[in-house]
Amino acid sequence: MSLRLGDAAPNFKAKTTAGEIDFYEYLGDGWGILFSHPADYTPVCTTELGKTALLQEEFAKRNTKVLALSVDSLDRHAGWVNDINETQSVNVGFPIIADEDKSIAHAYGMIHPNASENFTVRSLFIIGPDKKIKLTITYPASTGRNFVEVLRVLDSLQLTANYSVATPANWAEGEDVIVVPAVSTEAAIEKFPKGVKVVKPYLRYTPQPNK
Ligand code: BEZ
Repeated sequence: MSLRLGDAAPNFKAKTTAGEIDFYEYLGDGWGILFSHPADYTPVCTTELGKTALLQEEFAKRNTKVLALSVDSLDRHAGWVNDINETQSVNVGFPIIADEDKSIAHAYGMIHPNASENFTVRSLFIIGPDKKIKLTITYPASTGRNFVEVLRVLDSLQLTANYSVATPANWAEGEDVIVVPAVSTEAAIEKFPKGVKVVKPYLRYTPQPNK
């Protein structure tokens, strides 16, 4: 059975390019992003890890640790990181897990046998400080993910966790957010001093609270 939203993220110990880690210990009380890619020394994966490396500071500002994973060996990861740094003009500073026995890939359902028996697909999980799964996305090997979108979802999740607001379709940083249905309009007016715009009793906007 695949992992679903709200499930506990399985803990694991792993060999990574940053040494051996215990996943929960590594995340501490922050957020985590765990994402798999099919294989080292492949073009789409090279660009994905490059784009992630460019956003390292943004993830750190959000108290979020990023980890990549494939079933390749640590030696292959080490050589490939040099290529990523060279070709994408970055410095990959996040760990890449060497999941050679596929134990983590299986625990997270990253291998989809009808796509490939041997390689992980492009799975991505956002994990909250409570170690619960907050987001899952799955892309095929041929489509690189948009890590700016991943950052946008992380912002939305953190707004919900900290301020009880949701974000509307196509929301971007700085735009109005939505008062969640669980908060009454009366309570919202008290909770959000920047104002509450009531379009319908169930559709209420407020300026982004942390701006
Ligand atoms: C890639 O990362 O470029 C890739 C990997 C596996 C299959 C297709 C593309």
